[in-house]
Amino acid sequence: MSASHVPPRLEIRNLVRRFDGQTVVDHVSLSIAPGQVTCLLGPSGCGKSTTLRMIAGVDTQDEGTIHVDGSLVCDTVFRIPPERRSIGLMFQDFALFPHMSVGENVSFGLRTSASEKRATATRLLDRVGLAHYIDFYPHHLSGGEQQRVALARAMAPEPKIMLMDEPFSGLDNRLRDGIRDETLDLLKEAGAAVLLVTHEPEEAMRMADEIALMRDGRIVQQGAPYNIFNAPADKGAMAFFSDINVLRSRVQGALTETPFGQFMAPGVADGTEVDIVFRPQHVGIDFDRGGKGPHPTVIAGTPARGVVRRARFMGSESLVEFLMDHDQQVLKATVPNVFLPKVGTPMWLTLRRDRCFVFPANP
Ligand SMILES: Nc1ncnc2c1ncn2[C@@H]1O[C@H](COP(=O)(O)OP(=O)(O)OP(=O)(O)O)[C@@H](O)[C@H]1O
Ligand SMILES: [Mg+2]
Repeated sequence: MSASHVPPRLEIRNLVRRFDGQTVVDHVSLSIAPGQVTCLLGPSGCGKSTTLRMIAGVDTQDEGTIHVDGSLVCDTVFRIPPERRSIGLMFQDFALFPHMSVGENVSFGLRTSASEKRATATRLLDRVGLAHYIDFYPHHLSGGEQQRVALARAMAPEPKIMLMDEPFSGLDNRLRDGIRDETLDLLKEAGAAVLLVTHEPEEAMRMADEIALMRDGRIVQQGAPYNIFNAPADKGAMAFFSDINVLRSRVQGALTETPFGQFMAPGVADGTEVDIVFRPQHVGIDFDRGGKGPHPTVIAGTPARGVVRRARFMGSESLVEFLMDHDQQVLKATVPNVFLPKVGTPMWLTLRRDRCFVFPANP
């Protein structure tokens, strides 16, 4: 079999789950290669955990199929039980067994001799930097250390697939970054296909080779973090990752007129309302010189004037809000921290036109 014919490690096709007539997972399809990390990202209640539960086998889909390495694991008739799916699980409320030592916790799922269990536990604990705790009990460990033991336990049976549901949300920020990176290294090394659920965009960007953005039970966009961030499918996808600014306008002759000049709206019918959407980081600011601003350019387009309404120092940058002269709309800009304009200062705003997106206002 040539490389191009190797089936994905995990492939789900058109998974559907309904509860009381409500469709909470709506034709979700994903495929994940060995060693690939995919993040299922979306707001609370969009169906992330339900999707994971079906893959794990603790819930069964109403429609759709699940394959592992090309073999059917579950459809609506045939169903391999959870314990035979070679799937590792790591959830937010991971619980170590309090009456077992750390080593016993790690080797719990193994069906090997006592000495082999100990060897595996030692190797994995060493990998997460906790070999010296092998004979300690969970209550001796900090939250972050317990998390690493839980990871070692999930990895011990060498699962082909690792499903993780907000596994880091119980940890404080400082601890989290280190554990995320360490977890990622370990999973990549093991070649498992990883599906990680989160509702935090930063976590998804940090962890994922690919992000599947989910909303109301559906995957609305899927791709590398860079592409999802820089080529959002719609306004909602864009707003999920950052603050946005929106200019509402109407299309005439495939163009739409704004105080910042014209934008192209190819293929959009005359009279249709559109939103020109851009991030605060793509707004440039310039001083007012006797009522005049910078000259229009191809990249920055036409400047528009506003007055500083609020300016907040945020550390590496400042967030500045402007009340625009033309319609009193509030627009936000982020600027490097060295500059913090005073409230009431008139300034000229320009947009990075290549970072503006035109979306239908009422999709
Ligand atoms: N067993 C069930 N019976 C009825 N409704 C359910 C059941 N399980 C989940 N739901 C509903 O399905 C929807 C999706 O739930 P799910 O737990 O998958 O969301 P989620 O994306 O994981 O959210 P969160 O980020 O809050 O964990 C919710 O509205 C939930 O109430
Ligand atoms: Mg959930």
